[in-house]
Amino acid sequence: MKALITGISGFVGSHLAEYLLGKQVEVTGTIRNRSRMDHIRHLKDIQLVECELRDPFSVESLLAKVKPDLIFHLAAQSFVPTSWNSPVDTIHNNVAGQVNIFEAVRKHDLDCKIQIACSSEEYGHVEPDEVPIKETNPLRPLSPYAVSKVAQEYLGYQYHKSYGLKVIPTRTFNHTGPRRGENFVTSNFAKQIAEIEKGIKPPVLMVGNLEAKRDFTDVRDVVRAYWLALEKGTPGETYNIASGKCCTIREMLNLLLSFSNKEITVQQDPERLRPSDVEILLGDYSKFHQATGWKPEIPFEQTMEDLLNYWRER
Ligand code: GDD
Repeated sequence: MKALITGISGFVGSHLAEYLLGKQVEVTGTIRNRSRMDHIRHLKDIQLVECELRDPFSVESLLAKVKPDLIFHLAAQSFVPTSWNSPVDTIHNNVAGQVNIFEAVRKHDLDCKIQIACSSEEYGHVEPDEVPIKETNPLRPLSPYAVSKVAQEYLGYQYHKSYGLKVIPTRTFNHTGPRRGENFVTSNFAKQIAEIEKGIKPPVLMVGNLEAKRDFTDVRDVVRAYWLALEKGTPGETYNIASGKCCTIREMLNLLLSFSNKEITVQQDPERLRPSDVEILLGDYSKFHQATGWKPEIPFEQTMEDLLNYWRER
């Protein structure tokens, strides 16, 4: 069994590669010349191919060479605030990159299953009586990033219906754990605490909107879900991947602070506030559970402690 992971050097990609190697799957991943390699350097048994997903030629040669049975399409511009600063780049990167994959799969007539990493951000504005969020909830995206994920998902649906591509979109709610990029809130706060503990930063932790509510799953549970999505999911169906619980960002911060014995002051930085923030994401993962038997296993406290220790060790 051969798997291709786009964005293998990223946070989720590196965890997925580890998981697949544990299942004796042959793993190839795409990187770009500017990719950071520190998350995958320890993985000796993977093949890396340089590929620019925005370039149809680059994608076509990749797929002609690898001919995967499974594609996990993770590569994306995935940071919501960047999508306000570079909306065109976000749309182009996320949408065109995926179309290039679909067209190359068609051209080479590959019989493969394709998981596409869509997002709970697609739900966007959610009314208080609309939680927990099911796959049937309306999509009201609130950022260019969220719109790019809606487009990715609908293209997956369209290529499935038009050409029979076996596409399975996963709407993953927030996920974190060791190696999470430092821009994302859990990692950003954990890194600040670790730096304060090391004495390389004054004891003031900068934050944005602490009232937003998010549903966090451990990345190691998420990659297991991606595997199961392709093993047991139905092509053309979309699945929520979530923990079924949510907390405010303030509660998440308080949990992290409880792991440290430093006196730390919290200060809001207006630069960290967004033009529009999704107020609440709380997912219902029962459809995915019914299809695959998946449920999250790693407690949130464990995830956050592992994340803080990751930054302490760096
Ligand atoms: N990044 C960041 N930094 N977010 C902050 C901060 C801060 O200092 N302070 C508060 N927040 C709030 C944000 O306003 C948002 O409400 C929440 O923390 C989470 O922010 P992020 O970690 O940046 O993630 P996100 O929810 O915008 O998006 C993530 O989850 C999506 C799935 O719902 C990303 O991983 C997306 O790629 C993913 O699709």
